[in-house]
Amino acid sequence: MVSRVIPVDPFDLVIFGGTGDLARRKILPSLFRRFVAGQIPDNALIIGAARSDLDQAGYRSFVAEALAEFLPAAQRTPEDVARFLDDVDYVKLDATGDEGWERLKDLARDDRVQAFYFSVAPSLFGAIAERLHRFGIARTDARIVVEKPFGHDLESARALNAALASHFAERQIYRIDHYLGKETVQNLMAVRFANILFEPLWSARYIDHVEITVAETVGVGGRGAYYDQSGAMRDMVQNHMMQLVCLIAMEAPYEFDPDAVRDEKLKVIHALQPVGMDDIVRGQYRAGADTQSYAEDVGNPASTTESYIAMKVEIANWRWKGTPFYLRTGKRLRARTSEIAIVFKEVPHSIFHDAIGWHENVLAIRLQPNEGMTLSVMIKEPGPGGMRLIEVPLDMSFAEALGAEGADIPDAYERLIMDVIRGNQTLFMRGDEVEAAWAWTDPIIRGWEEQGDRPRLYDAGSSGPEDSLMLMHRDKRRWREISE
Ligand code: BG6
Repeated sequence: MVSRVIPVDPFDLVIFGGTGDLARRKILPSLFRRFVAGQIPDNALIIGAARSDLDQAGYRSFVAEALAEFLPAAQRTPEDVARFLDDVDYVKLDATGDEGWERLKDLARDDRVQAFYFSVAPSLFGAIAERLHRFGIARTDARIVVEKPFGHDLESARALNAALASHFAERQIYRIDHYLGKETVQNLMAVRFANILFEPLWSARYIDHVEITVAETVGVGGRGAYYDQSGAMRDMVQNHMMQLVCLIAMEAPYEFDPDAVRDEKLKVIHALQPVGMDDIVRGQYRAGADTQSYAEDVGNPASTTESYIAMKVEIANWRWKGTPFYLRTGKRLRARTSEIAIVFKEVPHSIFHDAIGWHENVLAIRLQPNEGMTLSVMIKEPGPGGMRLIEVPLDMSFAEALGAEGADIPDAYERLIMDVIRGNQTLFMRGDEVEAAWAWTDPIIRGWEEQGDRPRLYDAGSSGPEDSLMLMHRDKRRWREISE
């Protein structure tokens, strides 16, 4: 299969927070990979902007180290790295003061795409937006990229939207949810809207329930201070899982156009029902043999923040009324796996009296690792001796089906950053979408706070708290195994 790389237009990309963790881990390696793929023109300029006392040479060394740390050696020849570094510059800058902004203005060129990546704490968004405007740096067609967390609740998200809107139009703002950049997440749309096969079955009429699992084996790592203020609900459900729900549940947009797609997603969020306290289980991991407990990880013995959440969510519209979506996500679980399972109803009447118990068709879409799809179907067990049924998987691993191209799945950031340069907002969240997501999330969190709810403890390396099993059992359903 021939990979088609269409170069983007020349651009200047300023990374505020250019020496930060995200820049090192994701933004710079992703830019480099796109550069090597031939997608970034040689005359593009990547400007790191941060407080650190560095000059151009110092920052280039920083970038080279980041590439060495986060990309395998096979992906970076010294020649490619040297060519890439030629396009890298640095500005020492004070986001809340005046230093550096004039220099940034001097570097700005008019004849190319202009993008500003706000890889900084949200508390700095307003200050940076205001300076880009006041110093006459950003043009009216400039693009800005902002990261999550986009607010802590509805009120703070509104304040952030307002701060950005004072200087930039919505069409200029690219709010990243990196899940939307994952290949398999985009595949959800391809599977649904490029095949006739699934659409007639894609509703409460034929789907019993939908299960979305995003399980991680890692703990909160060095992000304890942030995470303890957020918890799984704010960190994963309000954004990533919500986006997955939207892509599964949305109606077909009239075209693959940013606002058409986002309008449809927004309707799903509006149709989400309030979630009762009985429909949620929160958990917090215990210490494992070699790992600390959540409370130790965040350095807060009294923490009531959840590192795990399982919930039953209902969508009140014609398509989905009666088909629950069960969501679960957590840290320090048994395996790292993200999977969406569409569990179809059983046949209305079984003509095979010897048939075995559970035999629903399941379409499982594996987001990571081993990206692919499996459709479980019932067939006759081979051989004479009656009509015995067995379940077999129709299994498609993208790596196998697509060869080298399927094996080399680009990082979500590669796709998303190139979309910013191309000026395509389809895979970015619109302001109203983020606010609607918070409007649904806020009452749930407030409910816990009012009730003084404490998460159940679960063993490190397990599937989460026992109580989460009940969430399914009482509906006569069961979770799928968490396994790679
Ligand atoms: C981030 C969360 O947005 O997504 C992290 O803040 C989480 O807590 C991460 O670990 C998961 O992303 P991925 O791409 O590894 O599934």
